[in-house]
Amino acid sequence: MSSDQLIIFDTTLRDGEQSPGIALTPSEKLLIAQQLEKLKVDVIEAGFAASSPGDWEGVNLIAKNVKNSTIASLARCVADDIDQSWEAIKIANKSRIHVFTSTSDIHMEHMLRKSKEEVLKDARESVKYAKKLCEDIEFSAQDATRTDKDFLIEILKAAVEEGATTINVPDTVGYATPSDYLELLKGVYDEVKGKNDDIIISTHCHNDLGLAVANSLTAITAGARQIEGAINGIGERAGNTSTEEIIMAVKTRQDQYGVDIKAETTEILETSRLVSKLTGYPVQFNKAVVGKNAFSHESGIHQHGYLRNKMTYEIMTPDSVGQEAKIILGKHSGRAGFKDALDKLNIELDEESFNSSFETFKKLADRKGEIVENELRAIVGQVPSQSGSVKLVSVSVNSKDDFASASVTLNVQGEEQTESAEGDGMIDAAFTAVKKILKSKAKLIDYKVDSITKGSDSTAEIVTIVNDGHNLKQGRAVSTDVVQGSVESFLNALNK
Ligand code: KIV
Ligand code: ZN
Repeated sequence: MSSDQLIIFDTTLRDGEQSPGIALTPSEKLLIAQQLEKLKVDVIEAGFAASSPGDWEGVNLIAKNVKNSTIASLARCVADDIDQSWEAIKIANKSRIHVFTSTSDIHMEHMLRKSKEEVLKDARESVKYAKKLCEDIEFSAQDATRTDKDFLIEILKAAVEEGATTINVPDTVGYATPSDYLELLKGVYDEVKGKNDDIIISTHCHNDLGLAVANSLTAITAGARQIEGAINGIGERAGNTSTEEIIMAVKTRQDQYGVDIKAETTEILETSRLVSKLTGYPVQFNKAVVGKNAFSHESGIHQHGYLRNKMTYEIMTPDSVGQEAKIILGKHSGRAGFKDALDKLNIELDEESFNSSFETFKKLADRKGEIVENELRAIVGQVPSQSGSVKLVSVSVNSKDDFASASVTLNVQGEEQTESAEGDGMIDAAFTAVKKILKSKAKLIDYKVDSITKGSDSTAEIVTIVNDGHNLKQGRAVSTDVVQGSVESFLNALNK
């Protein structure tokens, strides 16, 4: 491994699986491991073999089936943990035993109930014992960032002397800041690794202060060449460093980090989805790299710039991580975004129809948020509902038992007129009020409401057919409010 190579150690299946409520079966773990292999992570921490028979089985299944990544199992400084880890992983093409113990005063006193001398002895003996079984040994000093620095250096040196080739400096409680962590790792580099090319310094950062990725990346500058992370950042409490964020940060900011990684970035989204599906942990919409909005553009200004040159608002391409760019049509979108969406549907409109469709779209988007393809088709399929000399100003309806009434205000050639009427239901009452204002004898021949999207806020397309005494006329309107849309559709027919 050249010193310019950054090892991606993924612990989705061990630390990630420790998240509350996650309990993957061995076969689910294998599915994730196989996907991690496609992502080309260097090391897969498949579990903590001694923690339960199910975990042992999962680790072993992965060790048997995954060929390209190294398979690691976690073990405490206990001979039985190390034996069980080795039994589970020895069949793998490449295996690693990951031995750990706590080194901070608070952990040693309250969790291990051991003195520094005892912990140091345990670490030495365990690494030595594990090394007899497996060539590749990682040693972690749990809670390293709250550990007395001299003791940390002493125990890491001891682990190296006994054969550990990867020394991990975990920020177990997510307490470190980038500058703290950088200082600490520089010390470890100078005093433990020195010029020894066989020793890899590793990071393992938790995200309690939202600094896990930043801390891990900073460590590269201090000479760390392994980063531990979990897909979607899952893990104990606020989770771990997000593996996918590290991969994309290193790829995108080569100017800063200058290290190579093997990862197949186009597999990132698939990996994220699989982990989310099998763990039941949703991915937040705006999550970096894998969130559903990570490559979406909604505001008019952004859409305008993006449509001219994608790099105005994108620092990495969506396809490089398996995502698709999305122009979201919503209330912040402008004409450029609206036109682009129509172009993609091969819809061409003359200027007048474009303007009136854009107006309808804005009105609808104001109520609805995102406008989807079907709604867009309905909007442009509609003959401008508010064109003509009569426009709807407001409509209010009341319905109780068998009685319905409506009050409608129309703008008729610049003048507002209001009428109320009763009817056989709210729509009938509203149409009667419209006819009163317009002194119209038109008859409603057909009336149809189709919902274009699902849910109680669904958009409806309302079609009316009216006989004005001479001809049949069709009116259409699109709205989230069926009563208002019905009156607009009715007026659309009468206006013709
Ligand atoms: O957070 C931690 O310190 C760990 C170790 C076991 C590596 O998960
Ligand atoms: Zn951890």
